Amino acid sequence: MVLLRKSRSMCYSIFMTGERITASAIMDGLNTRVIGRRLLIFDSISSTMDVARKEALEKAPEGTAVIAERQTAGRGRLNRAWLTPEGNIAVSIVLYPPRECRDALIMLASLAVLNAIQSVTGLACQLKWPNDVLIHGKKVCGVLIETKMRADRLDYAILGIGINVNMRLAEHAEIQAIATSLADELGKTVSRVTMLRSLFTELERLYIGLFSGKSLYDEWRRNLATIGRPVTVHSGDDVSHGTAESVSEDGSLLLRCEDGSLRRITIGDVSLREQTKENG
Ligand code: ATP
Ligand code: BTN
Repeated sequence: MVLLRKSRSMCYSIFMTGERITASAIMDGLNTRVIGRRLLIFDSISSTMDVARKEALEKAPEGTAVIAERQTAGRGRLNRAWLTPEGNIAVSIVLYPPRECRDALIMLASLAVLNAIQSVTGLACQLKWPNDVLIHGKKVCGVLIETKMRADRLDYAILGIGINVNMRLAEHAEIQAIATSLADELGKTVSRVTMLRSLFTELERLYIGLFSGKSLYDEWRRNLATIGRPVTVHSGDDVSHGTAESVSEDGSLLLRCEDGSLRRITIGDVSLREQTKENG
């Protein structure tokens, strides 16, 4: 009886959240040579970033991917909390790129997610500066990059990627207005294993391109929903209004302020404002 109840709730849970993530399922048909060739998969941990950092400090093989079904202390940019209920993707990937590639990692990660989502689901995505992935103006993925410099060398980089795959936003009122998931957009669950495989493949393709000197800047810029839009930028305690005029090759945002001056923003949070007669 207990067993029956257990398996019923397991079926229900898998129906709602998609299949379980296992190393063998991901490896089956994964064509990468580096990204995702070593997988550490956890049911529940604080944050995949913590484990990935430890791995990087111990010189884990490049491409090691730390995946969690749930994170109890998932974190986002600017020290914010990141919700990771069951059914989503939370992954951190260890890389050892040359220092010159550091600025491009934001572009690399967000473009890889955008391409992977579009190829697996057919959903059109856009990017919001610096590295959010949006569907119909709502956030479906966040990217967190942690790097460690030693002297003038990059010791390691960790790409932390959180994708709302099968989460139902109706169950998460606190972010429902600003966030979405692939399942909510499509009206059906999406295979996280297929998404991860596609993500690893895209990451590797773009990473190899970077090494051969291919810039990601044009592709990143083309996909940014932010350019040309009236925005409010929060940078520390500072709040500026203006138009997002462009982005530079180092990834910073060029904001045309209301007084006509041009500001370069390197760290911050952008809210896209509605286009009105007054502001645009
Ligand atoms: P505070 O200390 O100010 O309450 P916090 O650490 O609780 O902050 P917030 O500042 O509320 O976090 O920031 C979390 C941000 O990330 C919010 O914008 C939230 O809506 C968003 N967020 C968290 N998890 C997700 C997710 N899975 N998908 C999309 N957005 C998310
Ligand atoms: C953001 O949009 O602020 C970035 C969110 C990054 C979330 C991912 S989930 C995997 C990895 N582990 C974390 O704790 N954070 C990143």
